Amino acid sequence: MVILDISSFTWTQWAWVFATVLASYLASSCIYLLYFHPASKFPGPKLAAVSYVTYCSHWIRGRYPWFLEEMLHEYGDAVRIGPNEVAFFTPQAAEDIYGAAIKGQELFLKTDLMNFGTGDLGYIWENDPVKRKAAAKKILPALSTKAIRNMEPTIHFYLDLFISKMKDHGTNPEGCLMSDWLLWLATDMAADLTYNREFHHMRDGKGSDFLETLRGTSFVGILMQLSKKIPMIKLITPFFIPLKVLRNVPASFRANSAEVKSRIEKRGNTAHPDFMDFMIAPDGPSPMTKKELTHIEQVALQMFIAGFDPVQITFYAFIFLLLKNPQVCTTLTKEIRDSFKSYEEITPQALLSLKYLAAFISETLRVYLPASTGSPRVSPGAIVDGVYVAKGIVCQLSTFTAQRHERWFRDPLEFHPERWLPQEHPLYDEKYADDNLKAAFPFGLGPRQCPGKEIAWVQCRLFLGKLLWSFDLEGVSGHEKYFDKDFKAYLMWERPELWVRFLPARD
Ligand code: HEM
Repeated sequence: MVILDISSFTWTQWAWVFATVLASYLASSCIYLLYFHPASKFPGPKLAAVSYVTYCSHWIRGRYPWFLEEMLHEYGDAVRIGPNEVAFFTPQAAEDIYGAAIKGQELFLKTDLMNFGTGDLGYIWENDPVKRKAAAKKILPALSTKAIRNMEPTIHFYLDLFISKMKDHGTNPEGCLMSDWLLWLATDMAADLTYNREFHHMRDGKGSDFLETLRGTSFVGILMQLSKKIPMIKLITPFFIPLKVLRNVPASFRANSAEVKSRIEKRGNTAHPDFMDFMIAPDGPSPMTKKELTHIEQVALQMFIAGFDPVQITFYAFIFLLLKNPQVCTTLTKEIRDSFKSYEEITPQALLSLKYLAAFISETLRVYLPASTGSPRVSPGAIVDGVYVAKGIVCQLSTFTAQRHERWFRDPLEFHPERWLPQEHPLYDEKYADDNLKAAFPFGLGPRQCPGKEIAWVQCRLFLGKLLWSFDLEGVSGHEKYFDKDFKAYLMWERPELWVRFLPARD
């Protein structure tokens, strides 16, 4: 027997030992991941089975939704997209993952992707179902039909301000930069609806450090999430944070805290109702502890973000798609102008009967999904679409794929509001009779689906109603770009500059 005297090893021999141990470790990990890991029964690329490199590289390039779509087209109804991660796209899978609940508490829990170390996960980012339910119990009444009705004057106020700004600037030869104006509109409206915070982006016609910081965290937030998959990414993350954003982050958080505190002081004495009324009663005591205050700050910030980002990108998509589809624009404009005698008559209730308007909104949310990041959930050990997914495997529905799949939608990549029209509508098209409209889930499913769906629809209907009543749109530039080529998905969508002229409506 040969006995090695390791005390006499040279540096080169140590390097060989280290390399051999590392290679054996990597080889055995790969063999385990490829053949013995509970997710190994799912098809997918070999590289995705053994590392998160493929997953992360597509996220970093802003192509994650398209990556999932390609994989699901290539490998079938369930695909392994990472060592411990599987993606699905069928309505049954959606029901099994997101619909599974006991007493209103989800069974497939959220992952810790949105845990950025803030100490309190608030409401939307909370992955403990008990804590999330407690937060939801307080805040959900803020999004009830009655509460929304009380907040309508605030929605009208901001949409009217947008229309008046477009009257002032919309006929400039270079047009107005929609990517900015719609961001300002949605931010101003969401902040005021959430906690009576007035940003005045639209009034002043310019952005703010706060908004720039928030947008700046879209890519960095993705890197922080990816570092949970490949910890080394943490090392490069600081190099991607623009200096200005880095400098402004603490100030923006401090400003948010100050706004929340001042809103709490003003309770019972605010300019109009807001979501905060449901977090802290108008006649209630101040939050006692720092912990309570931090929680309220988190919930308020999350409600504001949930209320502004999908709305701004949806408004952008409306204008982008109207300019790309002139016939659709003409039909929708006619429906709106034929329905009202004056601008003042345009209310959420009056807009409810406009079928083409509803079809246009549904089709926009189908082809242009506002929620970019997917909704990964941890399996409790359950059947998903007929296949057992072991406990601990992260699974998600690629809503993006489902909504653009030819199995559910005819001409899936084309924009046809007609597919959403009822049979008795004059523009109903038999061609789309076999579409499975239930395969579109822009607001999610189950206990954690979007509770803001109703207020979002109110905002969407009113925005389009007031806009197309008032103006004829003329694209200057940006509308010639393509969604599948020119958009990127991070925590928020990155979209091309869109310049539009707003000409006074011709009859
Ligand atoms: C077109 C507009 C909108 C779309 C497409 C949309 C979509 C979604 C989706 C898909 C989710 C589920 C995310 C997940 O499962 O992880 C969600 C959650 C949520 N949305 Fe929306 N949303 C929109 C507007 C709004 C608005 C205006 C609000 C109002 C504040 C809002 C409040 C929320 C809240 C509070 C949640 C978290 C629910 C929970 O975690 O229990 N959303 N939204």
